[in-house]
Amino acid sequence: MLAVRYQYDRATMARSDFQTPPGTRDLTEPTSSRVRRLVALFAEEAERAGFGQIVPPMFEDVGVFVRLGESSDVVAKELYSFTDKGGRDLALRPEFTASVCRSFAQTRPLLPWKTWYSGPSFRYDKPQKGRYRQFDQVGAEVIGSDDPDLDTELIALAWRFFAKVGLRDVALSVNSLGDFADRPAYLDALGAYLRSNADALSEQSRATMATNPLRVLDSKRPQDAAVIAEAPILLDFLSESAAVAFERVTAGLKALGVPFQVAPRLVRGLDYYTRTTFEFAASGLDAAQNAVGGGGRYDGLVEALGGPPEPGIGFALGVDRTLLACDAEASFPAERRPIDVWVVSTTAGTEGIELVEALRNDGIRADRAYGGRSMKAQMKVADRSGASIALIMGEDEAAAGTVAVRMLRDGGGQEPIDRSRVLEKVRSLLP
Ligand code: HAM
Repeated sequence: MLAVRYQYDRATMARSDFQTPPGTRDLTEPTSSRVRRLVALFAEEAERAGFGQIVPPMFEDVGVFVRLGESSDVVAKELYSFTDKGGRDLALRPEFTASVCRSFAQTRPLLPWKTWYSGPSFRYDKPQKGRYRQFDQVGAEVIGSDDPDLDTELIALAWRFFAKVGLRDVALSVNSLGDFADRPAYLDALGAYLRSNADALSEQSRATMATNPLRVLDSKRPQDAAVIAEAPILLDFLSESAAVAFERVTAGLKALGVPFQVAPRLVRGLDYYTRTTFEFAASGLDAAQNAVGGGGRYDGLVEALGGPPEPGIGFALGVDRTLLACDAEASFPAERRPIDVWVVSTTAGTEGIELVEALRNDGIRADRAYGGRSMKAQMKVADRSGASIALIMGEDEAAAGTVAVRMLRDGGGQEPIDRSRVLEKVRSLLP
């Protein structure tokens, strides 16, 4: 252990003013329990729709993520990759979809495989509000069916979730990126168009144009807007079967009453997408970070990860951004649930800890102060705790085998109760 420690720079070791690394935060109450409730709501929705949970490792062989597309920012610039002590090249996951496909290829579960997940992802992104280096996602994936009704169902699942958390100002954009076979003709047309308008594009987009012209459509730089608005669209290049599938998806969304707009220039930040792609934008957030979720089909990814040529579709929602969007709409408020019972004990014996234990064993939320403080000091803490009931034991109560039950709110009174009846009494007082 010591040998390992001495590999570090002594100046760093001597510091004691550590902060969270840029782009990361401590989630504490009430945000931490808000996140937990949000995930629980998502789990409930997903499981109601037949999805089972997957908890993949947070790091994988770096090759798993390289399949997301070497020209995408997520892989080219933002991957947290490292070599472990065994010489393996690994990376922290920037998203879950690749891990789900790797897991499918590795374990070959029954088809269709419907799985949901939640947890942190890591991207070396430029930190700002709504953009973090460690952020939480919830998501769902289905491998093994190319039925377009599944696309509709998945979009509807995400939509239902946003409705459940009370978000109203969310706009759904859908597009079809066609099959890989539809791409070359489109990329030729797009490339020619971009080259002929290169002078009007930003320097970054001129650079992107050469490696991945599709990604130019994703530029949020104002200078590029006019050129992008007139660019050829993939929907005009779809094969017959991709066009029919997309029709079926939009008809399904209409039938389910899920409002959407077709966004023919919607391309996503990862390279694996085929056919249906979609994104949810919250109008309460800044435009650069207003995507609260997105997803689509990835009909070649499982095969690229060594599995059979099974199609897949899924989505991921950003938990941090969803909560920011909730804040902007004053929905899904943080819940402050104070403790119910505060135990105040000044006896020399173990009555205090025994009572707290008995209450908790009985399913009652109970807490106490530590350090043998005076009755007055403990009562002050009890008042501040937000508990509705204080159970008080001084030497008198200990000698008489009683506990004084005091109502802490609404000027409530105090009455002595026999120790054997305390739990029953507390239960009768709690809502
Ligand atoms: P994504 O669009 O890269 O898609 O991420 C999904 C969501 O994660 C975004 O809409 C956003 O809310 C959130 N997110 C992404 N990056 C950050 C960040 N740096 N800070 C905070 N939130 C962020 C995927 O990850 C795909 N795996 C979705 C998918 C699943 N496609 C098919 N299946």
